[in-house]
Amino acid sequence: MTEVTIRPMRAGDAAEVLRIYQAGLDGGHASFETTAPDWAAFDAGRALAYRFVAVDADGAVRGWVAVSPVSSRPVYAGVVEHSVYVDPAARGRGVARLLLDALIVATEAGGVWTIQAGVFPENAASLAVHERAGFRIVGARRRIGRHHGRWRDVVLLERRSPVVD
Ligand SMILES: CC(C)(COP(=O)(O)OP(=O)(O)OC[C@H]1O[C@@H](n2cnc3c(N)ncnc32)[C@H](O)[C@@H]1OP(=O)(O)O)[C@@H](O)C(=O)NCCC(=O)NCCS
Repeated sequence: MTEVTIRPMRAGDAAEVLRIYQAGLDGGHASFETTAPDWAAFDAGRALAYRFVAVDADGAVRGWVAVSPVSSRPVYAGVVEHSVYVDPAARGRGVARLLLDALIVATEAGGVWTIQAGVFPENAASLAVHERAGFRIVGARRRIGRHHGRWRDVVLLERRSPVVD
């Protein structure tokens, strides 16, 4: 694989980030969402400090990770929910793992103690990536929402930082 590096996401990455987001949604197992937001909505909903992209040696964006707060309550100030999306042409090469590792380092440095994610049980790649990166399965939420008119389960995963105290 060509060398992939991780760097902070910039506004100039918007088109590629949203293209990769839409490609993931089109696969049918990434999210209840079916259409990627525009950049303004994406930008407004995700913490600036914890957005990263994976870039190839030629600078092409191959994947991204970002987080949103889960609650405005102070008790949950250090709990975030993340999304990770990799270009279909770059999957299976460890890009998601690099992004998750970068996210874990950055969030721990910033005092975030829990990262969580909701994953469809059919999303074997995402479950594998998260478990490899140290997430544990909390449980499965049954028929929690409709996707294209069909009720679907969601597996809740979390990684509680062992160093943030
Ligand atoms: C899920 C996704 C992000 C994984 O990205 P990726 O870059 O292909 O994953 P990686 O190559 O980093 O894989 C990391 C680990 O997961 C394993 N893995 C990846 N895909 C797998 C699959 N389909 N089945 C089993 N294991 C898999 C890899 O073997 C690797 O394990 P290893 O470190 O022991 O070798 C990617 O498939 C994607 O973008 N899917 C669409 C969007 C999506 O579903 N996002 C997650 C929403 S919760």
